[in-house]
Order: sequence, then structure tokens, then C-alpha cells
Amino acid sequence: MINRKSKREIQQMQDAADILVATHKEIAKRIKPGVTTLELDAFVETFLEKHGATPEQKGYNGYPYAICASVNDEICHGFPNDEPLKDGDIVTIDMVVNLNGGLADSAWTYAVGNVDEKGQKLIEVTKEALYRGIAQAKHGHRLGDIGHAIQTYAEGEGFSVVRDFTGHGIGPTIHEDPHVPHYGLPNKGIRLKEGMVITIEPMLNEGDWHSKMDDNGWTARTVDKGRSVQFEHQIVITKDEPIILTEQDK
Ligand code: MF3
Ligand code: CO
Repeated sequence: MINRKSKREIQQMQDAADILVATHKEIAKRIKPGVTTLELDAFVETFLEKHGATPEQKGYNGYPYAICASVNDEICHGFPNDEPLKDGDIVTIDMVVNLNGGLADSAWTYAVGNVDEKGQKLIEVTKEALYRGIAQAKHGHRLGDIGHAIQTYAEGEGFSVVRDFTGHGIGPTIHEDPHVPHYGLPNKGIRLKEGMVITIEPMLNEGDWHSKMDDNGWTARTVDKGRSVQFEHQIVITKDEPIILTEQDK
């Protein structure tokens, strides 16, 4: 069932999102060769606590960390670890903030030092693909319009779209209906309605789109060792432009 959110629920999510955005801005300052993703995880926990918020991913279906940190060929749900990030790495940090029950979910990809040209292009195209998907997310449009906009743009730029993970409705839990695929056909799928709150979170690969699961049961990585990048926003469907709750440059 897809629930639509009240003004009050949306405001609670916006308050959580404000903290999430501040956290991402702090992470951006800390991403450097030599830093470990476990250090970033610890930073996030402390930072959220200081702001009266909690990391919703920790303990969600047994997930053990505050953040997901997915490096290079890891697609999503990478475990933070004690391996220092290296110059040229690409790392996606994904987290969900809970503030008084309001949830905010946003993943952002960071370049560590100097990333090669193809990697930079993968980052730029994935971010642009997210915004092209968001532009379709309006009352009366269909889910397929979002996926189609993302897929045609991404594939036109020579990258592939991961199909094993999708965006999702959010609130009161992290994953609610509907699933929001990042591929698809225009004019197909359920109709979007004012008040729905969803995430759009395309994962683009430089090679094959297929994924395989690590032994930890969480981390998905590419089958051909190609790199993967993800950007995710949480948005509110309206009759006009969607409201991007997790926007970083408001
Ligand atoms: N933020 C992730 C998503 O967009 C949530 C993953 S749940 C976790 O789906 F527990 F694995 F972190
Ligand atoms: Co999400």
C-alpha cells in the first residue's frame, strides 16, 4: 500500500533531512586519501547524536553500521572498514537519519583525491541522471517516466543502470511501497500522487549492470569489477516541481 504524507509528517522528514544534509557536508570535508570508512562511520554516529538524531540503518534488518560506504566496484550496502581510502577511489556514502521518527535517506558519491576522467564522467552522469529522474516525478506522471528518463540518459552516455536495487517509498520505515526502478518505459507503472514521498537513487556502472552479493549478505558489487556510482535524493511529489528534501544547495 502506498501512503501519502501529511504536512506534519513531511515537515518531520524535512527536519531529519536538514541534519542529513549537514552530515554529508561534513563528510565531504573529511574525504581524503588515508581516511577510513570506519572513521567516517564513527564520525556520523557522534554527529547525529549531537543533533538529537539516530542512524536508522544501524540495526535495520540486522545491518551493523550507521552508514553504507561503497568503494569502486561496490554498488551499494558496502560495510565501513579500516582500509584507508586511496587517491583515485570513488566512494558512495549512504545513510538514513531518524529525527523524532521523521526519516531522511540520501546517498552521495565522493571522489577521493584525483579520480581518472572516466570515473569523473561516471560521477557527473549519475548525478545528472538523478536530477533527470526527479524532473519526471510529478503528480499524474507514472513511475516508468522516472526510470525511462534515467535509463535513456545513462545508456546514451555509455553507462549501465543497476536493476537489482530500486528507489522506494519512505516513512514510517525505510523501505515502503512503491519500488522505484531506475529503468523502464514511459507511461507505465503506477501513477504518482501529491503527498507521496519516495527516494530516487540510481546506481550506474561503467561496465555490466549485473551485481553479485558478498559473503556478508549485504554488499553488492559489479560482476566485472567495473566501478559503480550512486546519488540518492528523497523527494515529495507535488502538482508542480517535486520538493527535494535532501537537496544540498538550497
Ligand atoms: N539507504 C539505503 C537505501 O536507500 C538503505 C539501506 S538499508 C541498510 O535503500 F540497512 F542496508 F542500510
Ligand atoms: Co534509499
